[in-house]
Amino acid sequence: MSDGLDSAGRELLFSEARSVRSFSDKPVPDEVLAELWSLARWPPTAWNSQPLRVTYVRSPEGKARLLPLVDERNRDKTRQAPVTCVLAADLRFHDHLPELFPGKPDLREFLERADREGHARFNAALQIGYFVLAARAVGLSAGPMAGFDAGAVAKEFLDPQPLRALLLVNLGYPRPDAAPPRLPRLPAGHVVSWL
Ligand SMILES: Cc1cc2nc3c(=O)[nH]c(=O)nc-3n(C[C@H](O)[C@H](O)[C@H](O)COP(=O)(O)O)c2cc1C
Repeated sequence: MSDGLDSAGRELLFSEARSVRSFSDKPVPDEVLAELWSLARWPPTAWNSQPLRVTYVRSPEGKARLLPLVDERNRDKTRQAPVTCVLAADLRFHDHLPELFPGKPDLREFLERADREGHARFNAALQIGYFVLAARAVGLSAGPMAGFDAGAVAKEFLDPQPLRALLLVNLGYPRPDAAPPRLPRLPAGHVVSWL
């Protein structure tokens, strides 16, 4: 039986990791981004549906298209970050279910006529949590941002028919200076019940 991660691993993923707002100019190699996804793809989603879609915006041209669509307060960090990810939910996730969830062959047809947006958003949001932890696991720091124009980002970077932009996440290596004091977390007694 495994005892899980040692304390260094737990600190890296959870207790010492911060939402980073200020990035050094150290570049993020493509192999690190590929490694990130090779981990983030494994945790569970309902029907194994995996609706998250990821766009890595790295080029100066891409950043120039993105910055006007980001809230003013998020612009400097987005400009600085070597990579900004557009994380989106694919409302046509069901097209892949015959392969991803072969035990229910009628599911794709059923979902073609159903409202799929809630499922896509919920499961893609779960995957975003996994994505942030995977980024930390490969040594990156992440800065999630909901402050942007989701409709405009979908139009500019995605096919807005099936894709809904959910969150931007800056990725890179933090400047040593910058973290503000950690905000408190709710105590376990407020959150967790034991029956
Ligand atoms: C869904 C989501 C949206 C967020 N949106 C923003 C944002 O628009 N701008 C920002 O500066 N931080 C944003 N944050 C960062 C949070 O404020 C931050 O994670 C929280 O205060 C905890 O900080 P810590 O991880 O450094 O302890 C967001 C975080 C999440 C998970």
